[in-house]
Amino acid sequence: MTTEVAPIVTRRLAAQEPWTLQSYLSDGGYGALRKALTMPRQEVMAEVDRANLLGRGGAGFPAGRKWSMLRKAEPVYLVVNGDESEPATFKDHLLIERDPHQIVEGTLITAYAIGAAQAFIYVRGEFALGLERMIQAVEDAYGHGVIGANIFGSGFSVDLVVHPGAGAYICGDETALLESLEGKRGFPRIKPPYYPAAIGLYGAPTVVNNVETMSNIPWIVLNGGDAFAALGTETATGTRMFAVAGRVNRPGAYEVELGKNTFRDLVYDPKLGGGVRDGRELKAFVPGGASSFWFGPERLDFSLDESKVKGEGGSMMGSGSVIVLDDTTCAVRAAWRLVRFFHKESCGQCTPCREGSGWLEKIMRRIESGHGRPQDLELLMDVCDNISPGVSWPSRWPPNMTTICPLGPSIPPPVVSSLGMFRDEYLVHVKEGGCPFG
Ligand SMILES: Cc1cc2nc3c(=O)[nH]c(=O)nc-3n(C[C@H](O)[C@H](O)[C@H](O)COP(=O)(O)O)c2cc1C
Ligand code: SF4
Repeated sequence: MTTEVAPIVTRRLAAQEPWTLQSYLSDGGYGALRKALTMPRQEVMAEVDRANLLGRGGAGFPAGRKWSMLRKAEPVYLVVNGDESEPATFKDHLLIERDPHQIVEGTLITAYAIGAAQAFIYVRGEFALGLERMIQAVEDAYGHGVIGANIFGSGFSVDLVVHPGAGAYICGDETALLESLEGKRGFPRIKPPYYPAAIGLYGAPTVVNNVETMSNIPWIVLNGGDAFAALGTETATGTRMFAVAGRVNRPGAYEVELGKNTFRDLVYDPKLGGGVRDGRELKAFVPGGASSFWFGPERLDFSLDESKVKGEGGSMMGSGSVIVLDDTTCAVRAAWRLVRFFHKESCGQCTPCREGSGWLEKIMRRIESGHGRPQDLELLMDVCDNISPGVSWPSRWPPNMTTICPLGPSIPPPVVSSLGMFRDEYLVHVKEGGCPFG
């Protein structure tokens, strides 16, 4: 049974025109900013640290710790990542479209806490409506005096720019995003330095945080880090939005308490996913976005806790997208589609990612279209091993990397999972010269 807690980040999404400044102010909007500006910066940071808010963009790094890791130098920048382009991941765009002021307020508080006088919100270019509302929200917030010089007479000043992306998935990677923001091609940067906190935008120390991460900040400031940490469990605090997609009765984005709820709740609760479509059997599910290793039905009772999903499950909750496959879904086709996506989106800098994704895509297409060879199964594993050495089934976390950014090791999981769980299905494709699912 899903635990009932008051939502944090989605609490206003169903309100009347919740994206307007008037609606936000009538719900107490910018009260958290006012409060934060009366607190010493370190205290704001300490509250977020106490909340143990893990970043909601994929890597799950604690926000408070990230802020405290900033190299001591001036200037310092804050960049909010609203690029959200992974297949079946659709939580951030709702926050952008329906509650942009909540993101703006979280951004302003964070800018204050880290001492940034300039912040950016990077929004995926295809989010036409989201961009329009975000730009309007920032304009209205300037007009209301919550962005700009000497906010609420506190002496704190900050500027905020909304920057549209240009439709490249790779620009969601924080270092590619920074390149893009600097007006260059969205190529992920070579590591080290490992974190933009050391060398980020224009070479300056930079915090990059996800849109949902930012949306939690006003609540944490108003209610305290301890109140946030009291939700969920010790290792998985607060709530999180999940995009539930694929063969479910109620695909959608849902905010649930972490740690105490399970994947079964997300898929079967009548108020959430509502069960598998047409009463079919659940065959498998992708627990954390396109790049995560798949889970079988025996893992439905895993709690929504990143440490457990990684440690015991060998996968991740990643971008917060759960994709359900039922017994009418062809595992080969599902994996091929994901590989095709990564192949198209590879930026091409690293040979294993650029060439490997292309080879995998071709082999999988060959198998799915009925021209597969028995040796293709080993060939697929071999190519995967070249992209992410040691990759195996059952999976383990984290995968090894040979590439500049994590997109490389994101490619093998759909292949290795589908091969590991449904090898027979691959063999039938090869033997019968086509897809048994039609
Ligand atoms: C290929 C790729 C795509 C990514 N896409 C996104 C994205 O769309 N949004 C996002 O917040 N993080 C994305 N990330 C993760 C970011 O690099 C970064 O970890 C995140 O924005 C940090 O925010 P957080 O700490 O609040 O989670 C992506 C990473 C990779 C490697
Ligand atoms: S892993 Fe792929 S997407 Fe990432 S930098 Fe290398 S080629 Fe580009």
